[in-house]
Amino acid sequence: MNPNPSASLVQALSNHQQKRPVSFHVPGHKSGKAYSRWAADPVIETFLTGGLEWDQTEIDGLDDLHAPEEAILEAQKRAAEAYGADSTYFLVNGSTVGNLAMIHTVCRQGDRVLVQRNSHKSIFHALALVGARPIFLNPRVESITGIPTGVTPEHVKGALEAYPDTRAVILTSPNYYGMAMDLAKIAEICHKHAIPLVVDEAHGAHCGFHADYPASALGQGADLVVQSTHKMGLAMTMGACLHTQGERFDKEKLHWYLSVFQSSSPSYPIMASIDLSTYFMTKYGKLWLTEAKQMVEAFYQQMKPYEDLFYIPKYMEKNSSYEAMDPLKLTIHFHYGQDGFSWRDRLQKEGIFLELAQERHTLAVLGPGTNQNDMDRFTDSLIRSVESMKPVIGQENLRGISNIVWNKEPWEAMEHPLTQVIPANMSAVPWRQAIGKISGEIIIPYPPGVPILHVGERWTLEKMQWIQIQKDKGLKFQGVSDSSLETVRVLPDA
Ligand SMILES: Cc1ncc(COP(=O)(O)O)c(C=O)c1O
Repeated sequence: MNPNPSASLVQALSNHQQKRPVSFHVPGHKSGKAYSRWAADPVIETFLTGGLEWDQTEIDGLDDLHAPEEAILEAQKRAAEAYGADSTYFLVNGSTVGNLAMIHTVCRQGDRVLVQRNSHKSIFHALALVGARPIFLNPRVESITGIPTGVTPEHVKGALEAYPDTRAVILTSPNYYGMAMDLAKIAEICHKHAIPLVVDEAHGAHCGFHADYPASALGQGADLVVQSTHKMGLAMTMGACLHTQGERFDKEKLHWYLSVFQSSSPSYPIMASIDLSTYFMTKYGKLWLTEAKQMVEAFYQQMKPYEDLFYIPKYMEKNSSYEAMDPLKLTIHFHYGQDGFSWRDRLQKEGIFLELAQERHTLAVLGPGTNQNDMDRFTDSLIRSVESMKPVIGQENLRGISNIVWNKEPWEAMEHPLTQVIPANMSAVPWRQAIGKISGEIIIPYPPGVPILHVGERWTLEKMQWIQIQKDKGLKFQGVSDSSLETVRVLPDA
């Protein structure tokens, strides 16, 4: 027995809070600041009295998530009304569990589905578990940043004509960076083919509440949608919603899969926080989004003198690869001298924590808990940082290299099926020797959790170079057997 018991996670969270951190990452409530700002509201005040006493179970008066009849049913109905859904289901394991349930509902083993290649790992895990036969829709790539964006209606139309046996189309919008697609046209195309449009809207719990923000997937006609209410709404981490619309899926199947994948002891504090988020969005959503947009506009004004040093995909700016941009996602792409990782580290030293860093950009995420003071600290730090970049002007204008890893073909069928288990017949090789070989593991840069290589795909020099750069800068990878990536698992050639 350890004579000096300790609790490292408890300590780590406490240490983090002592830094008085400024959060430009999820969850949207930003260390509870959203709750404290609106604490005078009696409903929010009541929620704040919760604490451990609210950690309850399915006793009389508290309803049951798996057979809701009272408070949970009413809360789900209010969420459905607020979001324009026919039905809404509360999720206590994030959009991850929603993606698992949606995909199991719309396809069976061997079914053909179209899926956006830059989807979250939970989508691919679901497809692997089902044993579906995905066709990857390769995303367009934003020209300056190299960020994969989305797909166009023409793209989906063409793929559906090429694969008329497709059972569902599975897309992600807005993406991690807030870029949103024209889902209305895509929904129309899917419905002409009598198949459902399934949308991972994990980053869009606030969509549809304000005309200056991306329209919601449901509002554009999607059939099944998940939202991480904890990311851009007010819920606690893991609080999410699955919304449905219409009859293009089997409701009983969906209920069954939700009962399979969700805990039989769902967290009441999380469920209550989803309910609170609906309340907040209905009552204060428009005000919050208006104020947030003003904050972002002021930020752009302050950044104007430095526009030649870095690039921010401007909100609501249209280009060919996405229709709308979420103002709350600030992607800062450095042209000269700096990389995203070192800038992230620099801000972190000042107590400012960002959502993501990659080789040429960083992502800062605003939410209902972001206040002007946080925004000022972020802006000051960015200005000081870009000032120090001036001496290196004249260097090559470095574009994001990410575009090299995305296949330029509009779609591709997998050579091997996605598999749920790591195949037994594989070997570990020094990773440089893997070029041209078939990967035996899924390689997932995290964040954002979008796999760069699937089990069954071939290693290419470009992917290896991209991974090398990210790895050298300290990006972490999930799914790999050797976290140092010194070796990777490959399959024998067929
Ligand atoms: C696009 C997308 N979908 C799904 C998820 C999973 O969401 P959650 O963390 O709520 O399970 C994420 C998480 O980052 C995501 O970025």
